[in-house]
Amino acid sequence: MTDTKDLTNKYIMGTYNRFDTEIENGNGVYIIDGKGKKYLDFTAGIAVNTLGYIDRDCIKAITEQIEKYNHCSNLYYSRPQAEVAEILVENSCFEKVFFCNSGAEANETMIKIARKFGKTKGENCSKIITMKNSFHGRTTGAITATGQEKYQKSFTPLLPDFAYAEFNNLQSVEALADEHTCAIIVEPVQGEGGLHVAKKEFLQGLRKLCDEKNILLGFDEVQCGIGRTGTLFAYQSYGVEPDMAAMAKGLANGLPIGACAAKGIASTILVAGDHASTFGGNPVSCASAKVVLNKLIKGNLLENVKTTGEYLISELKKLAQKYPVIKDVRGLGLMVGAELSVPAKDIIKKCMDKGLMIIGAGTHVMRFVPPMIITKDHVDEAIKIIDEVLGETNE
Ligand SMILES: Cc1ncc(COP(=O)(O)O)c(C=O)c1O
Repeated sequence: MTDTKDLTNKYIMGTYNRFDTEIENGNGVYIIDGKGKKYLDFTAGIAVNTLGYIDRDCIKAITEQIEKYNHCSNLYYSRPQAEVAEILVENSCFEKVFFCNSGAEANETMIKIARKFGKTKGENCSKIITMKNSFHGRTTGAITATGQEKYQKSFTPLLPDFAYAEFNNLQSVEALADEHTCAIIVEPVQGEGGLHVAKKEFLQGLRKLCDEKNILLGFDEVQCGIGRTGTLFAYQSYGVEPDMAAMAKGLANGLPIGACAAKGIASTILVAGDHASTFGGNPVSCASAKVVLNKLIKGNLLENVKTTGEYLISELKKLAQKYPVIKDVRGLGLMVGAELSVPAKDIIKKCMDKGLMIIGAGTHVMRFVPPMIITKDHVDEAIKIIDEVLGETNE
């Protein structure tokens, strides 16, 4: 049998830099690779596997649904998506949901809502302000929103009328916001851009600015939403309500799903014919999402995210005192970063060798986005490995 790596390299476009590891299976918060090596997974498929691997309730719900129907067109009504929308709306400030399949598409939905809203305001009101160093996905609208040239430069011309402000700098947003602006889109916690947490005053200031100037405020919660920061939506950690939010990653515990939730005019502006998705709101993905949401809302998972997240941060801070190579430790809930004074790549590789799966954010940040079911014991296990790696690197 041809090696998976050779098969991949021969037949799949080379768009990913992959670790030399093939995933065989997972259980709880552990992964086994093709060579039988076990890893403690602090990546969760990049903030996706909320409940880890082999969650029996998810498997039961998915199996029951697939025995009924695996897909149906959005030309018909489908119970699982209606129920997931109900849970999202009844536990948030939002009034309506649009389902799609990924984070990028959820952001495209916000962009389309913003642009159509702009048309209701008047001529030439199409400017969307996003943040430098942000990340919103890889479709052309989403890379335009992404304030990082490296994702954009090969694909110009981009969508017109985007402007980029400094994250956590209200004045820089104020300087760009004018009568031509229809929306401001921001990640409450920047993930790919290096794990930067928005200050409360910044998001409060954006809300005020948007209210004063009749601009829509959109939160990209694709990575930081669905329990990641310790509240169902990241906006709830701040007490600042956006007009719309994008979500995806953790919503269906690894099955593809994306959603844009909105309130007020943002929730009604798209009408039949304006927007659609063949797979959006897939019943099997929604069956899984319902389990995830119920466990977050009714179980003690959110509490676990808060306490285990705080514990992870405090243990990493202790390591930072021991190893000055760790310049900063920051995060919210179980979305945590440790910024190094050297590129994080080699340290991450050494952690992988010792059985801890982590990823980077930007070039110098070690990112921790584990399944939300991890315990303090798992944190201890991870910290022990990082301690060993940094100790050896120091020698
Ligand atoms: C904040 C944010 N927005 C959007 C995306 C894009 O999501 P997807 O890869 O599902 O399109 C990501 C992915 O990392 C993300 O972190």
